[in-house]
Amino acid sequence: MSQPLKCPQAANALTEPSSGSRIALAEPAIGGNEWAYVKECLDSGWVSSAGAFVERFEADFAGYLGVGHAAATVNGTAALHVALLAAGVLPDDEVLMPSFTFIAPANAVRYAGAWPVFVDAEPGAWQMDVERAIDFLERQCHWSDGALRNPRNGRRIGAILAVHVLGHPVDLDPLLAVAAKHDLPVIEDAAESLGATYRDRYVGRFGRLACFSFNGNKVMTTGGGGMVVTDDAALAKRVRYLTTTAKDDADEGIHGQVGFNYRLTNIQAAMGCAQIEQLEDFLAAKRRIAARYAEDLAGLPGLSLMPEEPWAKSAFWLYSIRLDPARAPCDSRELRRRLRAAGIDTRFFWQPLHLSPAHAGAEILGGAVAERLHGEVLSLPCSTGLSEAAQARVIAAVRDGFDS
Ligand SMILES: Cc1ncc(COP(=O)(O)O)c(C=O)c1O
Repeated sequence: MSQPLKCPQAANALTEPSSGSRIALAEPAIGGNEWAYVKECLDSGWVSSAGAFVERFEADFAGYLGVGHAAATVNGTAALHVALLAAGVLPDDEVLMPSFTFIAPANAVRYAGAWPVFVDAEPGAWQMDVERAIDFLERQCHWSDGALRNPRNGRRIGAILAVHVLGHPVDLDPLLAVAAKHDLPVIEDAAESLGATYRDRYVGRFGRLACFSFNGNKVMTTGGGGMVVTDDAALAKRVRYLTTTAKDDADEGIHGQVGFNYRLTNIQAAMGCAQIEQLEDFLAAKRRIAARYAEDLAGLPGLSLMPEEPWAKSAFWLYSIRLDPARAPCDSRELRRRLRAAGIDTRFFWQPLHLSPAHAGAEILGGAVAERLHGEVLSLPCSTGLSEAAQARVIAAVRDGFDS
């Protein structure tokens, strides 16, 4: 029999899995029916993007959120790409989105031929500064030729991409109100926030469409995978059409336009079916880990705990702390160095997108808060399988950083 492949980076896109005394940042928990369901696919030969598990996963996912339709995709970025197209975003449109986020949503905007307009973060929940976004739409943009336009370049505002960052929701109500006033589609990027609620409803239930990711580091995983959800049957149909190479007549092999090969495979969906059965346990683990960090790290000088607004229930996807370099005895970079020396993985938040060479020249509204957060936020290990002893080691190592 051949040896199993040893590929440490495959388990987790953020850091390597835990091994020996190393504590990983966020690694998957595969302890349910994954093997059994994947074996069913292999035994039956239904391994590709047709198969009963894909439809079952879509139904289970839609049922969990309480949303009308779900379409599974190869990853969250592909989900965003087709959601933008289905929402009617056109080449040379502009899409309002946060600067303080992972790069995938901005890339998806570019895949659609549109341009991101980055909005600074707000310091409270580290989410898109909704007031800034509204100020731009209401006081800077104007209506002409039947569309709301950016006065600086005449481009149409095509959509708002509301990213729920790190597991916490954006303040959606004011954003939805201004979007409705100007008939702008809101697309939620809930890739990091499956299971989070905004005013007691799951994120993903607010926008015209919403997208999720099942990458190995997410709350639940299919290895790689994504989902588009919507309550609008016509939009769901459009998404399915675009993700399956825009087939007009499958028998005759007729494709109505240039579509995409973006549908999730049955093997990955099988894993998704097993993972969603455990989702409540994963979310409970994330909240338990967050509560312990909050209790045991409270009161350290210059250290702010991960925020949670009163109107939100965070999924605490990546538990993160913020270190004020003027008050804490060590900054985020130094603390990361010390934790790494102790065998503990951490990570900084992503470079704000308005500073990213990949999106050079894009407009930014504000930007100073995102830049500060980038320098000050540090994510700590928070795998759903993190043991109490391992978390105690992380807490002790962080506290040690404050003793010197
Ligand atoms: C906010 C956000 N959007 C989109 C994505 C893209 O998802 P995927 O990696 O599945 O393409 C990610 C992460 O991976 C993300 O963090």
